Amino acid sequence: MKRQIARIRVEPAARIQELPTQFFANLSAKAAARVAEGYDVINLGQGNPDQPTPQPIVDRLKAAADNPLYHKYPPFSGYRFLKEAVAKRYEEDYGVKLDPDTEVAILFGGKTGLVEISQCLLNPGDVCLVPDPGYPDYWSGVALAGARMVFMPLAESNGFLPDYGALKPEDLNRAKLMFINYPNNPTGAVADAAFYAETVEFAARHGIVVASDFAYGAIGFDGKRPVSFLETPGAKEVGVEFYTLSKSYNMAGWRVGFALGNADVIRLINLIQDHYYCSLFGAIQEAAAYALTGPQDSVRELSAMYERRRDTLFRALDRIGWKASKPGGSFFCWLPVPAGHSSESFADLVFEQADVVLAPGVGFGRSGEGYVRLGLLADEARLEEAAARIGRLGLFG
Ligand SMILES: Cc1ncc(COP(=O)(O)O)c(C=O)c1O
Repeated sequence: MKRQIARIRVEPAARIQELPTQFFANLSAKAAARVAEGYDVINLGQGNPDQPTPQPIVDRLKAAADNPLYHKYPPFSGYRFLKEAVAKRYEEDYGVKLDPDTEVAILFGGKTGLVEISQCLLNPGDVCLVPDPGYPDYWSGVALAGARMVFMPLAESNGFLPDYGALKPEDLNRAKLMFINYPNNPTGAVADAAFYAETVEFAARHGIVVASDFAYGAIGFDGKRPVSFLETPGAKEVGVEFYTLSKSYNMAGWRVGFALGNADVIRLINLIQDHYYCSLFGAIQEAAAYALTGPQDSVRELSAMYERRRDTLFRALDRIGWKASKPGGSFFCWLPVPAGHSSESFADLVFEQADVVLAPGVGFGRSGEGYVRLGLLADEARLEEAAARIGRLGLFG
């Protein structure tokens, strides 16, 4: 006779219960349900590149998959050739020299490293300075470490840069880590060399490790190449930069990212990863190295494509009377909501009545209230169509 086993009660650990709720999961589910009902939804609410990976990179993966060496476990912290490849890219693009052995960590996408760095550096009670609005994954790592976030509001009047002078001394005394992110998600703002110089000086003065999230580093507009934090004198003394192939090479599904810079931080990231994983599939590492060292025309073309989309969208916004500032980089537009609406009520209305998905700004933090984020992740005709549909709601002008 089969014995009945009582179902045990699965209790989540405290740190799991500390995790922030995934604000945008609900939005994605609503949009998917409407598409399934047959509606023509224009989804500009997410950050998933809409173009495929350049074919030569895919071909390289296909060929590399046949190599039996890659069917074995890869070396713990990844192949040296991939670390050399990213170091070469940084030297060519930014004039930054990186030691592949001590100043590069290979990551399963930037997101992984952004969560790991908090676990490497923060104890319960420590403070992490986080941009508001900002990319929600910073919050996840801080929550898992049991540390406390202090938000740095990014105001349009300050070019969406943090005002370090406004931070309280008691928070600065406890701060161990800070995140900055330019070109910025969600505001599309870019930072210049002077901002990074100020950041290095601020971090050194207060003993805070800087985590510069450079996920959109390849996407800059109006002839301006985004500046890397690591170009700043002294940057490696105080921090690291997170770099990813997801956006620059349309490789979001491949999960290839890097942490670069301060050797002490890189050692800790490699150490925690030795416990979590054995590095990426070798064939992916080979194709990623090819992406970084092969011809870079596709990267320039991609940035130019987003710029054309931005300009087409802003012409269409102008036609419907929606006034907003153009982003200087990334593929996001940060648009003020019309009077009388919150970011959520406006995004809901646009979704229900125009079948256009926009991300409510408040999902990126309290200072995101009053804005919606629009991703330039559909072709120009669809972006024009989205603006025209919103225009027909008669909320502007
Ligand atoms: C600001 C920012 N940082 C990091 C990432 C992580 O990218 P990935 O994990 O694909 O490298 C994203 C992805 O959307 C992002 O928007």
